[in-house]
Amino acid sequence: MGALSIYGGNRLSGEVRISGAKNSALPILAACLLVGGVHQLENCPDITDIRVACGILEALGCRVCREGSILTVDSRCLVQRSVPEDLVGRMRASILFQGAAYARFGSGILSQPGGCPLGARPIDLHLAALQALGAKLVEEQSSLRLEKQGPDGGFVKLRYPSVGATENALLAAAAAGNDSILIGCACEPEIVDLANFLNACGAKITGAGTQTIFVRGGRVLSGAVHRVIPDRMETVSYLCACLSAGGRITLRETDPGCCRTELELLEAAGCKICAEGSSLSMDAPDRPDAVPLVVTGPYPRFSTDAQPLFLAALCRAHGVSRFCETVFESRFGFASELEKLGARLQVRERYARLEGVPALHGASLCAQDLRGAAALLIAALGAEGETKLSGLAHLERGYSDFPAKLRNLGADLRWEHENEYKGGAAWLPNVLSENAATMEASPRS
Ligand code: UD1
Repeated sequence: MGALSIYGGNRLSGEVRISGAKNSALPILAACLLVGGVHQLENCPDITDIRVACGILEALGCRVCREGSILTVDSRCLVQRSVPEDLVGRMRASILFQGAAYARFGSGILSQPGGCPLGARPIDLHLAALQALGAKLVEEQSSLRLEKQGPDGGFVKLRYPSVGATENALLAAAAAGNDSILIGCACEPEIVDLANFLNACGAKITGAGTQTIFVRGGRVLSGAVHRVIPDRMETVSYLCACLSAGGRITLRETDPGCCRTELELLEAAGCKICAEGSSLSMDAPDRPDAVPLVVTGPYPRFSTDAQPLFLAALCRAHGVSRFCETVFESRFGFASELEKLGARLQVRERYARLEGVPALHGASLCAQDLRGAAALLIAALGAEGETKLSGLAHLERGYSDFPAKLRNLGADLRWEHENEYKGGAAWLPNVLSENAATMEASPRS
C-alpha cells in the first residue's frame, strides 16, 4: 500500500456519518461464535479488524455475509474448534474468539494474541477470570489449554478492569450452567453493548456498565438481531482532526454521551460543542489552547485510545499541555514521528510534556499502530506543506475510509497511487459476498 500525502492548512467543514464501534462489533462477533444460531448485526464497520474477525468465524465453519453495514453470521454448524494461529496474530481481540470457542465447546486454546505494540499486554486476567468460572488450565508445549471442570460459573474478581478480560468473563458466564457474579469489571459502553447483545440471545445479564455484573446461568441462547453502537473513538478522531486543522464539522449517528470526558477536554482547548440527540457539532479555533494535565484511565476516565489523537491535535496549542498514560506502558511510540513535524515534545516513561508551537511543517512519517497512525494524520492536517504518511494498513484496521472522509471535509489528501487505492483489507480474500449467495441458496437447519 502506498503512502498518503497530506497538505495541511485547510480548515475542515461539513458532515460525517460515524460508523459502528469496532470495539463493540469485535466482542459481539465473538458472542456470535459462542451462541450457535443465525445472528444479524446492523451498523457493523467494514474495516480490517472486522474482516479478520469474519475470517476467524469462517475458518471455524460459520457462514458470514455482508450487505452494506449489515453482517449476518450463521454459527449453527462449526467444522473446527480452534482459531487458526495466523489469525490469532493479526489482532488482540482474537483472544475473545478463543474464549468464546472454549466456552462453547468446553475445551480450547488460549494464546498470546497480536495487536498494536503498546507494551507487554499480558493475558493473565483473562486466564484468571476463566479459571474462576470453572476452567482448568493445562500447560502444553507452546500454548495453554483450558478444560471445563464440572459445573461452570461462579465468582470472578478482576484486579484491574481489563476490557478484554471482562468481555471474556461475560461470554463464559453467559454460557455457564450456574449463576455468576463478576466484580471489578470494566464499565466501557462496549461492555454494555455486548451484554445487550447476549441478552437479546436469551441471556440474563444485569449491571453491565458498572463494576459488578450478575449473570444468570443455565439459559438457552439462540440467534439475535442487534445494532452496534456508534464508534466513540471514530467520533473523537474527527473532532481532533477539526481541532488540529480548525473549522466547523457536524457528526451524525454518534453518541455524545459516550465521550463526555473527551468533549470536556475539547471545550478546554477552546472548541464550542453542541450536542443534539445523535448529532454533534464542533467549532474549533485556528489555534487551540493548551489543556491541563490529562491522565488516561479506565472508562469513564479519559480514554487511552484518545490520548495520541489529542496530543497530535494540540501540537500548535497556545501554552504547555501535559499527558500521563496509566493504561499502556508504551503508548508514546508515535511521539518521535510528531517531532519530525516540528512538535516540541518531551517524553519520559509514562509522561509527555507538549509545548505548543505556532506552526508545524511537513515531513515523511511512518505509523506503527492504529491510533498512532490516526494521530500522525491529524497532526499533519495542521502542518504547513506536504507530509508523507506510510504505514496506512494500521489506519485501516480501525477506520472506515478515514482519509476519504477527511477529504470530503475539505482536507487536501492524495494517495501516492491514487488509482490503486481500494480501501479496506486488500490482503484478506473477500469471501463474504460469495457467502451471501450460498447462504441464500442453502440455509442450514
Ligand atoms: C481494549 C480496546 C483498546 C483499548 C483498551 C483500553 C478492544 C478490541 N480494544 O483493549 O482499544 O485501548 O481496551 O481501554 O476493545 N492487562 C493485563 N492482563 C490482562 C489483560 C490486560 O495486565 O490479562 C492490562 C494491559 O496490559 C493494559 C491494561 O490491562 O495495561 C488494559 O488492557 P485491556 O483493558 O485488557 O485492553 P484490551 O481489552 O486489550
